[in-house]
Amino acid sequence: MEIINTVASLKEKVEKARKEGKTIGLVPTMGALHAGHRSLVERARKENDIVVVSVFVNPTQFNNQDDLKTYPRTEEADAEMLRDCGVDYAFMPSVAEMYPEKDTRVFALGPVAEVMEGAMRPGHFNGVAQVVSKLFAMAQPTRAYFGEKDFQQIAVIRKMAELEGFTELEIVDCPIVREPDGLALSSRNVRLTPEGRKAAPNIRRVLVESLDEKARGMSPVEVKASVKAKIDAVDGLTTEYYEIVDALTMQPVATWAEAENGAVGCVTVYDGDVRLIDNIRY
Ligand code: PAJ
Repeated sequence: MEIINTVASLKEKVEKARKEGKTIGLVPTMGALHAGHRSLVERARKENDIVVVSVFVNPTQFNNQDDLKTYPRTEEADAEMLRDCGVDYAFMPSVAEMYPEKDTRVFALGPVAEVMEGAMRPGHFNGVAQVVSKLFAMAQPTRAYFGEKDFQQIAVIRKMAELEGFTELEIVDCPIVREPDGLALSSRNVRLTPEGRKAAPNIRRVLVESLDEKARGMSPVEVKASVKAKIDAVDGLTTEYYEIVDALTMQPVATWAEAENGAVGCVTVYDGDVRLIDNIRY
């Protein structure tokens, strides 16, 4: 594995691979890598000739400066994991390398980016679109891999790809990897207190129970109220939002039938001061 720090060097490598007719799999990450990231990298390894993993804590997608400051950074361990996975290139650029000039682009992402995370974290998805569009242009991937843990992010990236004409590129969704107790793996989990860590699996428990509630005939509105109440009843957990949306449009639904592409429930919970997200398909 080669660690690459400059855009010029990354472009040189991928252009050579492209000329040789090789396929390129890209896995964008912000580092502090765990088994969730690893599952994306392993899938990319199986499906492509060349695998590029980017490790870059993108400042433009943080609407909270404290969150940016406290975001875990474990570059050496990250490089070790990527080497172990058989990655060809770990792209680890500096902020100045990614943003030689201030990125003022505003993407017309539309309704998919206006609800949930888009409503709670103004500017967040525009920042994600900025960095991912740069990464797509630099790495010229055949396929790019994203986790369903950030369910809305995938819809936003698909929209960005459509707007920017990345039509050849295949966006691959990968399932959520969880701890044995159900907690979705996240780089932020290391910030949980011992009590917070104990409370956290209740998020998944309540979401799974809500499948039964649907089966028993409850409407999305009733399921939403029940999920919120049950999560908030756990000591230390506070729901920020729970929405049941169409799996492609991300628009909230009032009836199950309204979700033409299937329904997915997306939750954000404060566990102490750590913001956790999770989701479930109905
Ligand atoms: P990051 O949070 O590091 O996540 C990188 C990728 O790993 C995302 O596609 C995310 O959905 C996936 N991932 C995280 N936890 C996962 C889990 N438990 N199971 C499966 N996949 C998981 O998402 C970002 O970084 C950034 O927004 C990025 C796309 C890199 C742009 O900066």
